[in-house]
Amino acid sequence: MIQVAVMGYGTVGSGVVEVIEKNKEEINKKSGEEISIKYILDLRDFPGDPYGDKVVHDVEQILNDPEIKIICETMGGLKPAYDFTKRALLMGKSVCTSNKELVAAHGPELIAIAHENKCNYLFEASVGGGIPIIRPLNYSLTAEKIDAITGILNGTTNYILTKMEREGADFESVLKEAQEKGYAEKNPEADVEGYDACRKIAILSSLMCGRHVRYEDIYTEGITKITAADFAYAGAMGKTIKLLAQSKEEDGKLYAMVAPFMIDGEHPLSMVNDVFNAVCVHGNMLGDSMYYGRGAGKLPTASAVVSDVVDCARHLGKVIMCFWEEGNVALTGIEQAKRRFFVRVAQENERKALEIFGKASVVEAGVPGEFAFVTEVMPEKEFNEKANETGIISRIRME
Ligand code: HSE
Repeated sequence: MIQVAVMGYGTVGSGVVEVIEKNKEEINKKSGEEISIKYILDLRDFPGDPYGDKVVHDVEQILNDPEIKIICETMGGLKPAYDFTKRALLMGKSVCTSNKELVAAHGPELIAIAHENKCNYLFEASVGGGIPIIRPLNYSLTAEKIDAITGILNGTTNYILTKMEREGADFESVLKEAQEKGYAEKNPEADVEGYDACRKIAILSSLMCGRHVRYEDIYTEGITKITAADFAYAGAMGKTIKLLAQSKEEDGKLYAMVAPFMIDGEHPLSMVNDVFNAVCVHGNMLGDSMYYGRGAGKLPTASAVVSDVVDCARHLGKVIMCFWEEGNVALTGIEQAKRRFFVRVAQENERKALEIFGKASVVEAGVPGEFAFVTEVMPEKEFNEKANETGIISRIRME
């Protein structure tokens, strides 16, 4: 029997307990041994909960118990999760986590500590919730040189953008409704400003490079400025707008960013709607592959944590390889990245815009008082200079 502790009995932690209980036959068979939950760490008590007798309040009880071989860290945040995780790994206990903040901030250090202590730090649930994406990058695509990863990595913003598109509604009203229904947090900043997707693409970019990509270095723009008019223009072009998290290697330079993009109706990510997430991975031999599913939610995320528990159980005392070394990757500034831009200007600026931008494809969507167009391919720096000179209402990058 392998004894497991769960740290944090919130949404994901209680999901982990539920998955281990409901699928125990499958899980035990695939682990090769019975997986048993011995402790649940939380500040609160849970009277009446069937697992209430396993709740402890002191992490030392878990760390000092030699029977505990695997810990599920579902607390979230850096403190005290970082300290608890580091101490567990130093004692040779494997840790499986859904905590993207911690993985993005301290992933390579914690992986190195795990390997030095013949245990594992696994984080399948930290990106894309229940979608297997970390394991494909680590185990399945090992014959590939991966040169691009593009994903819809945040369910809340994808839900909001999908509603805006379908209902012709503005951002604020859809956000309010999403909050009332519990699909968006009361404080939605981390989602709508792109910070959550930024942590996730930092993790995927690091696995793509094998070295640490700092989330602080990734250009990040959220969806708060996207309007119903933008969707009207997108619709007129047969396109939609998605918050994309991207990492691309071109001519030895690595670009990473999170921003809303206009994408073609034929693009596979345009069909990813509501709270679903998807990740497109491009490898130099395989070409494109795509991973799709529920990127958030109690049971999908818990299922990914438990898949890591099974992996740890199969590899007790052995290191599962993961190439993510310390030493930061220098990202190339996005101002050098070349692409087309969708631009809106006031009607009276039409002539000036055409003089400054030169060749442009005009977009008609019946929005009064405006002129809209798509530029030629140009570096972001050149675009910004031209946009400043013109005086624009807004711009959205074209994928
Ligand atoms: N807030 C996140 C989302 C939860 O909306 O995708 C999963 O990380």
